[in-house]
Formats: sequence, structure tokens, C-alpha cells
Amino acid sequence: MGITFNSEKRIFKLDTSSSSYILKIGRGGYMMGLYYGARLDECDVDYLTVREGHDSTVPLSASAEDDWRFSPDTMQAEYPAYGSGDFRISAVKIKNAAGNSVTDCRYEGHRIYKGKEPIPGMPSTRGSDGEAETLEIMCRDVTGAGITLIYTVFENHPVMTRRAVIKNGADSPLWVERAFSAAVDFTHPEFRLLHLWGCWGRERAVERRPLGHGITKISSGRGASGHYHNPFAALLAPGCSEESGEAYGFNLVYSGNFSIETEVDAFGLTRIIAGINPEGFSWKLDPGEEFYTPEAVMVYSDHGEGGMSRALHKFYREHLLEREWLKTPRPVVVNNWEATYFGFDTEKLVAIAKEAAGLGLDMLVVDDGWFGKRNDDRSSLGDWTVNEEKLPGGLSELAKRVNALGLGLGVWFEPEMVSRDSDLFRAHPDWCIHTEGRDMSIARHQYVLDLSRQEVRDYIVDSLSVVLSSANIEYVKWDFNRNLTEYSSALLPADRQGELFHRYVLGLYSVIGRLKAKFPDVLFEGCASGGGRYDPAMLSFFPQYWTSDDTDPIERIKIQYGTSLAYPACTMSCHVSASPNHQTGRKTPFKTRGDVAAAGVFGYELDLTALSERERDDVKRQVAEYKARRHIVMEGDLYRLVPPDGDIAAWMYVTPDKTEALFTYVRIKTMIAPVSFVKLRGLDPDRVYIDENGVRRLGSTLMRAGLNMTGNRRDAESVTMYFRAE
Ligand code: DGJ
Repeated sequence: MGITFNSEKRIFKLDTSSSSYILKIGRGGYMMGLYYGARLDECDVDYLTVREGHDSTVPLSASAEDDWRFSPDTMQAEYPAYGSGDFRISAVKIKNAAGNSVTDCRYEGHRIYKGKEPIPGMPSTRGSDGEAETLEIMCRDVTGAGITLIYTVFENHPVMTRRAVIKNGADSPLWVERAFSAAVDFTHPEFRLLHLWGCWGRERAVERRPLGHGITKISSGRGASGHYHNPFAALLAPGCSEESGEAYGFNLVYSGNFSIETEVDAFGLTRIIAGINPEGFSWKLDPGEEFYTPEAVMVYSDHGEGGMSRALHKFYREHLLEREWLKTPRPVVVNNWEATYFGFDTEKLVAIAKEAAGLGLDMLVVDDGWFGKRNDDRSSLGDWTVNEEKLPGGLSELAKRVNALGLGLGVWFEPEMVSRDSDLFRAHPDWCIHTEGRDMSIARHQYVLDLSRQEVRDYIVDSLSVVLSSANIEYVKWDFNRNLTEYSSALLPADRQGELFHRYVLGLYSVIGRLKAKFPDVLFEGCASGGGRYDPAMLSFFPQYWTSDDTDPIERIKIQYGTSLAYPACTMSCHVSASPNHQTGRKTPFKTRGDVAAAGVFGYELDLTALSERERDDVKRQVAEYKARRHIVMEGDLYRLVPPDGDIAAWMYVTPDKTEALFTYVRIKTMIAPVSFVKLRGLDPDRVYIDENGVRRLGSTLMRAGLNMTGNRRDAESVTMYFRAE
């Protein structure tokens, strides 16, 4: 399988289904990257080493003094260390007991084994012995720090993963100040950087820009991966487009402060590093202790951004997401948030559920406001006891009535938070993240609980368990509505305060893991003020994620487009909401709202009791059609046909066997009589496809000549077409 070692040349070759990654043990034991790209048939590519470019300001390594061309500063470093002659951004920096942070990383040994091991306390991708192979390269610094670089390649995917483990082999403490998960030095400077940025209601906007000389940083320091940058970035080689050219994607399986940094140097090398954000981070290692970085996923595509996304989607479906929820159809829910906000009671919810049952939906999700005294967002987070004034008889009574209608019940929580006005805060003011002697920043009238503390984690698990055991609750929406400030923990000693952010994330994984183990049949949906923590680590727990609080279909096309760069449709929770839209005020046809939401995990976010007769018929048809075709979206390959940058947008999903396809076209902006042809992709050119009107055409015709979408369509009108191969 994938990993070979040429002991004579001291070269490792790591092959995935269509890429090769080649590295060597260089002089002095420096690990050097030689190549990353399309799969090669031989490993002896030492000639790709950059060995020129030396001038008097570029130091030689002490161990390579005899070779004037060898310098850490111009080397393709595999895991660049701080302070030993490589002045570019470093992947590892460890402060020692003497107080300096000079770090070096030299080869000591390696091992290769089948399969892949989990990371203690952190989620990561899976790979059985038959699917994956792993290389561990053990390196050492003179202080005694052991640095193990771990690579896994996947036989059936153009994907490899990387991470590192730092172990204190000294007899005094060490402090890890930088520990990135992956680093790659590419031997040319002309990449464009693709990354996903945004804010609340506008998550994962796509930006592509040339990488100039110097450092570029995409990061979060908010304690969560966040709305503003996603822990995903791609380097696009010159000429890369949606369907052709080379793209290298990097995605971190991590939900906290992350950083993806690039540096283009004076000599034409491009370095990328991805891992925990070093800003505010420091981790003390006592002798014998280990620190594990999160995992970085690296994907290579020579079929452009589209190939990169499809490869990541398939990889995540097979190696990250929970298998059970890929096979089990997800419930089509109605969530009451935009229907009622905080103003509901059992009778209102049951009325919505009655409508939902008649229209073919599967579940009622009770959003924020069912607990404590929460009639607005000013109170009660942390007090997870039912508000009997709103819900007499509690959630169990509501569940019974909803279940009697043939529907399941889902419930919203925001477990990591505490309201200033809450019994929990009054009892344990020190349980939230704060710094003694400083004002506490407040957002949405709430504070963040200190999940680095065991008793806080236990409280969350216990209080949620009581609720989840009290009624037949089949679904949890896990929300997170503010970021961390005044970061310090009451229990950590001074020299460990830099650990808080990462300990918070580890605490979060532990809490979710414990709850999922206790309630294995409950479907968890993630949410963070919409899509504010949409990352692979969260997706490993939450098979679906509330993509954004912006449910306007035109805005959603852009948000779902950006999300699809890295994440599969089966993770995107998408609901039909009311028109005019509550966030944008835009009026859109019911059909378009349905067609856009049907590009992910479908549901409703409106008052079903307020629909017209015609809209009720629309819902019935939408739900029935979605259920009949959802396998195409959930398991199929996505082709982004027209990006939503102009007057139209179009996309399609094709089943892996190419027998079924679902095409969606949206006219974002009206134009009178525009000519519009859209070429399909991903079909079998030699098969005949028949659409719902009985029109038969060859796959090659549909892909080369395209569909004729010419016609007057108003703002935000949509068309969907279903194709089946004969
Ligand atoms: C933010 C979420 O994104 C919304 O869907 C909703 O659950 C509110 N929080 C409730 O407070």
C-alpha cells in the first residue's frame, strides 16, 4: 500500500489514490519535503531539493558547514523549528527550563504500520488496516523534547492526514509555544490562496487572492473556529479553476483557536502551516508528558476546486462522519425559532406539530425558551429545568402529544453558557471564564462556562442527562452564541494559563462525547449562532450543522456554495423560512426557498399554522420530493455549475453510479429574455438520461451542449430538474 521507505536514499514516499508526498532524511538529520503533487512512479526525486540562494545573511547549519549551499533558511523543511537558522514561520517552538525557545528537530527513527490510531481526547478521521497506512517519524531536540510527525495516507482517496506529538524527554519542564499539525514547503511562489471568511449571517464567503511575498494568516482567537475564518484553506496553482488545475486543500479537525499561515520567501518557496493558533497559547509539559496537536487533513486535486471538494466530501462521508447517520434518513424537521421565537407554549407547539404531521414532516424541534424563566435572551442559560408555565407537564407531556401525532421531538440547548441572570451563575459565579480583578465582557447577556474544569463538565453532562432522560427526545440542537473573553481559569496555575483555550476545546469534546455515549440514538445538530463553529471536529460529533441564521435563499446560495468548498451536503442543515425573510426582508417564491434548502438536510423554520392552502400543498410536494430524491444529495457528487457571483447560480448532484442527477438553477436577478445555457457535469457521456417531462438526451449532449435555460424568469425564481439514466 501507500508508504515506502528507500533506505539507501533515505527517502519516504507516501502515495494516496492520486497524489504522492515525498520527504527525505536530509543531512544533519533534518527532515526535508521534496515533493507534493500528482502521483509519481519513483521516489528518487532528490534533484528537486532547492540548494542555492545562499548569501551571507542566510546561516549555515552547524552540522552542514562543509556545504555552502545548505541552509535551514532555504531548505524545504518538513517541520520547521524556531530559532535554528530558519527565519520563516515555524511549526514548532518549545521553551526550555533555561528560558530560551531555540528548537531543532532532527530525525531519530521511524515506524510504518497499517491503519491509523485515534488521538487521545480529540476527534480525528478513521482508517482501518485495509484502508490506511501510517508513518511516524521520531525526531528530537537537544533539550530532550521528542517530536513525532505522524502521516496517514488513504488508499481510496487523494487525502492524507498529518499531526504531531511533542513529548518531554527531559528532566525539567518544557513549554510548547508553537505546535502546528502540518507544514509544507512548495517550490514555487505563484499560488492563489482560497479561504472562507464571513460573519454572523454571512458565513463562509469565498475569497481567492494571490499570495504576495511575506506572511498571510487566516485564524481565530475567539476560542471557537468561528464565523470569521474557517479552518480550511486551499492553495491554487496557476490556472486552477472549478474543474481543472491543481488545488491543495488543508482543513483542521479542530474547533478552537486555529491558524493557517503562509509565507512566500525571497527565493520563491511557499510555506504553509496549519494548526493551533500560537497567539495566547502555551502548554507546559512536565517530564514524561505528551502534547497532541489536532489533525490536519490534506487533499490534492488535479481537477480543480470541484475535484478537491468532491474528494473531501467523499472522504468525510467515509472516514469522519458517524456511519449510522449516513445510512439513516435524517428527520425532516420543523423548528419553531423563526415561527415563534420565545413566545410559545405547549398548545402552540402542538398546533405546529399537527400541521407538520399532515404535511409529511418527521419532527418538531423546540428551540430556545423552554427552560428556566427564559422569555427573552436575558436569562436562564444553565438552568436546564422546564418552564412549566409554558410547557405544563414538561417535555414529557409535550413529547407524548407530539409522538401521538407520529412526530419525534427535538430540543435546543446552549450547554456551554450561563446567563448572568440564572440560578447557576448566582450559585457558581467562578464557573465562567473570567479574570479576577477585571470587568467581564458580556455578550447576549451571557458568559462562557469554564469547560477546562471537571465539575463544570460534570454539571453540564448531568443536567442535560436529566432532561434527555425525562422525555422521548430524539434530537438535540447544540447552540453556542458567544466567544471567549478575559481568558483565564480560576483553577489553572500561572504557568498553565496559556493552556485554557485548548483545555476548553478538550473539555467540550469530552462533554459531547460523554453525552453521545449516554444517548447513542439521539441525533445531534450543531449550531453556533448559525454556522460559527462549522469544522470537521464538530462534524465528527454532529452529523449535521445549522449552516447559517440567514435563511434568505439568495443569501443561502452563497453560504451553501462557500460551505461546499470543504463540507458535504449531508452536513448542511437548511430550512425553508417565511417570506419576507426575517434577516434580509427579501421576498422570494416558496419554490425557490424549497429548492435551495433541498441542497442539504431539509427542514422548515416557519409557522406551519399560518400557511395558505397553496403553500400547504407546496410543503407536501416539497417534502415528498425531497424524501424521494435526498439520497442524490446526501450521497452524490456535487458539481458547482455556475457560482453565485452573477445573475444566475446552478449546481447539480449526481449519484456515484451516475444513474440519477438533480439539477437546480436559480435566477438571482431578473433580466428580460436572457440567453442562458448551462452545461451539466458528472454524467455518463454514453448513457441516455430522461427528465421528468420524458425528454431523452445523451449524457454527452447534456454535458457538451448543455440545457437551454433561456426564458423570462423573475428575481429569485428557480428550476429543478431530475434526470434518470435509462
Ligand atoms: C442562534 C441560533 O443560530 C438560532 O437558530 C436559534 O437557535 C437562536 N440562537 C436561539 O437563541
